[in-house]
Amino acid sequence: MRSPIHEYLTELLQSCEVVQGGAPASYIPELAEADPSQFAIGLSAVDGAVYCAGDAEVEFTIQSISKPFVYGFALEDLGPEKVWDAVDVEPSGDAFNELSLEPETGRPMNPMINAGALATHALLLPGGGVDARVERIRSGLSALAGRELEIDEQVYHSEMETAYRNRALANMLRSAGNVDLEPLQLVRGYTRQCAVRVTTRDLAIMAATLSNGGVQPWTGERVFSARVVRQVLTVMTTCGMYDSAGDWLSTVGIPAKSGVGGGIIGVLPGQAGIATFSPPLDTHGNSVRGVGVFERMTEDMGLHLM
Ligand code: DON
Repeated sequence: MRSPIHEYLTELLQSCEVVQGGAPASYIPELAEADPSQFAIGLSAVDGAVYCAGDAEVEFTIQSISKPFVYGFALEDLGPEKVWDAVDVEPSGDAFNELSLEPETGRPMNPMINAGALATHALLLPGGGVDARVERIRSGLSALAGRELEIDEQVYHSEMETAYRNRALANMLRSAGNVDLEPLQLVRGYTRQCAVRVTTRDLAIMAATLSNGGVQPWTGERVFSARVVRQVLTVMTTCGMYDSAGDWLSTVGIPAKSGVGGGIIGVLPGQAGIATFSPPLDTHGNSVRGVGVFERMTEDMGLHLM
């Protein structure tokens, strides 16, 4: 039976089909092939009830939406001081693929930009290899999704073929002493992190785990402590939408994270996780229709936290 929430989400997608513009990410050849008409929304309440509409079972790569979760894993595994020493928490105001180092300490400005995500990835399992770090992340993301997630090898190899910019960032981080991993190995691990396949339904429940204070609603597993969730949501609020974070906070007003695969997650603390999927991106690397859907939901349901 179709619930009123499901009816609303279906109508919401239909009304946002008029939102046009943008293009799938082209700097990762495999992502340029994405079907631009794919469109989905998922909403998970903190009790684990999930409502979806559109192409919510289609798998795509998580990309930068992995970053807040991996930041959370680093906080859990190493504690706040070690993470703080490696990466700052200030919005950079620049694009996600800029180096953006904090002038005084030389740390990347925040863990949501690529430089900060590389530094965060490098913190996991000190002394371990690429495979061990990637498995820590894949299994952690799976615990959030409540099912075993897999890596998209095709997208991984495609991104590695053109990852000149991330390789440059990793080399700069290494030369500045921010990371002690061999730069190419670091980029390999980080790129595999970005290539984990998820559905819109998965992202909704993963976001709902943050809404639920770190406890996965279906399995009851505590993936993050409440303190770690607070820190993750703080950084999502200030930096999750990159150089459009201020616009996003004005018009939508909730912690969020986008990925160049076309996904966006939004977190309503204590209430629900929301996810959208539509591959065409704006110039900031955020899904055009996804932003449209969240803006419309804020108008309809008063999502804005302020
Ligand atoms: O490192 C990259 O460029 C991609 N693997 C991820 C970037 C991304 O998703 C930016 N988000 N909107």
